[in-house]
Amino acid sequence: MDAAAPTGVSVRVDRQNGNAAPAIVQAKDPMTIVIFGASGDLAKRKLIPALYQLQEGGALPERYAVIGSSRTAMTDEAYRDAMQQALSERVGKPVAADHPVVQALHYQAGSGDDPEAMRELKARIEAVESERQLPGNRLFYLSVAPKLFPVIVKNLAAAGLIHPPHGPVWSRVIIEKPFGHDLKSAIELTESVRQVLDESQIYRIDHYLGKETVQNILSFRFGNAIFEPLFNHRYVDSVQITVAETLGMEGNRGAYYDTAGVTRDMVQNHMMQLLCLIAMEPPAAMDARAVRDEKGKVLRALVPMSPQDVAENTVRGQYGVGEQDGQIVKGYRQENGVDPHSITETYVAIRTKIETWRWAGVPFLLRSGKRLSAQVSEIALRFRRPPMLLFKEIASREGFEAREPRSNWLVLRIQPHEGISLSFACKRPGMQMLLDDVTMDFKYGQAFQQRSPEAYERLLLDALRGDASLFTRSDEVEYAWRFISSIFDGWAELPPPTFPNYYPFTDGPEEATRLMLGPYAHWRGIAEAARSGGPC
Ligand code: BG6
Repeated sequence: MDAAAPTGVSVRVDRQNGNAAPAIVQAKDPMTIVIFGASGDLAKRKLIPALYQLQEGGALPERYAVIGSSRTAMTDEAYRDAMQQALSERVGKPVAADHPVVQALHYQAGSGDDPEAMRELKARIEAVESERQLPGNRLFYLSVAPKLFPVIVKNLAAAGLIHPPHGPVWSRVIIEKPFGHDLKSAIELTESVRQVLDESQIYRIDHYLGKETVQNILSFRFGNAIFEPLFNHRYVDSVQITVAETLGMEGNRGAYYDTAGVTRDMVQNHMMQLLCLIAMEPPAAMDARAVRDEKGKVLRALVPMSPQDVAENTVRGQYGVGEQDGQIVKGYRQENGVDPHSITETYVAIRTKIETWRWAGVPFLLRSGKRLSAQVSEIALRFRRPPMLLFKEIASREGFEAREPRSNWLVLRIQPHEGISLSFACKRPGMQMLLDDVTMDFKYGQAFQQRSPEAYERLLLDALRGDASLFTRSDEVEYAWRFISSIFDGWAELPPPTFPNYYPFTDGPEEATRLMLGPYAHWRGIAEAARSGGPC
């Protein structure tokens, strides 16, 4: 397929396995999915729609049941109606009441921290399993407040709902983030769930790992021979990882967010995972153990910071009141559920290093924030500049304004405009030796012209198939916390920040520029990054 891009770049896709539609990846075991927090936002917006798409794509087994559980009293019918409506909105077309996913839904009111309610749930699960002839394979999805994780897991085991690992029928538990609030609580959480679950039964979900473009980081690095030799301190000058959002506290997230802040909400999990994938060594095999071993090594090589390091290498921010299209935009402290004197950070920039042979001395610059100028997630590698100023000398000899040699950039765009671009210098047409920067741009949507599965679809299917490669292991979580907790410890010793310190819909606090070292270093403009790869 040839797809001519408006920029003049064309991408040809040579299908490795011919043009035949690939075989459907299917979860084959008949099973029961139990969702705790079944009336919540995640179930409505992500989980049930993901099951719907999997069903549509033929990826679910012939026999299965979904049992939703939360505190609200509701009949099966009321739950089906609510989910059918939510699904129709999400999918953008009416979903019939007799759709297999809607028909598979059941509801059991109760709270997972109540042992009695758990026994009732068990009776319900067994009744549904016998009615639908399901053998007892069970996936429990904990989409609840983190403080409930240990007690729900304990009650599940006490009620006899967890099968021993590696037996003929399986039990798996998906735990939503955050996995702990700091290093200590993360270790405690791991210890308490490990009392009743084997590590092979725990699926810690990080939805960034389900994104197609995030998985493509590994294909790009280890499926090609030409880029990987450049991925090290000899060629890479610095790496910028940006996850910027325009969202503020929509969806009443203020109360939760005020206890977390961007560093816990985005950096400890999603950004640490992006860092791992861009920095890790090739795994010995593409399986859960080997991939997670390599990611763990990257996190281990992140050196925890002293308070002095934290002062030098981090910048935090909080958005204040602003204006957009003539409308006042609330500042963070005015948002619902947020303490009016809050010093929770809604923006953070961190400069760190990965102390490995490959990356010694290369700054990794991470930034994330709410209410920034655009929504964009990307990893940008800046390469070293050419070793001598050859063209600059020619230009000045011929009396032209000299152009400084520039760095090449390789940008992996996670979202939006998913793709990869590579910029390099090129001779401008004409009699003089003048150089311009040009960009080669690969766009996922244009090259493949097919729907990418949503992150939750991919991850749910993997969990149903027992593939944990895209889930995080306890050692990864702990190493990530070891690093992140050192930042919080440092902030606790520094004078309190002067917040708010950035306007909504900007690139964050000016102060972040001080993390850039060297005369040519600069943060990539967020709005500009969001436009790149987009329609021209
Ligand atoms: C979630 C965070 O994990 O990720 C949210 O809790 C954030 O605060 C979201 O908005 C961003 O996800 P995505 O897929 O929209 O980049």
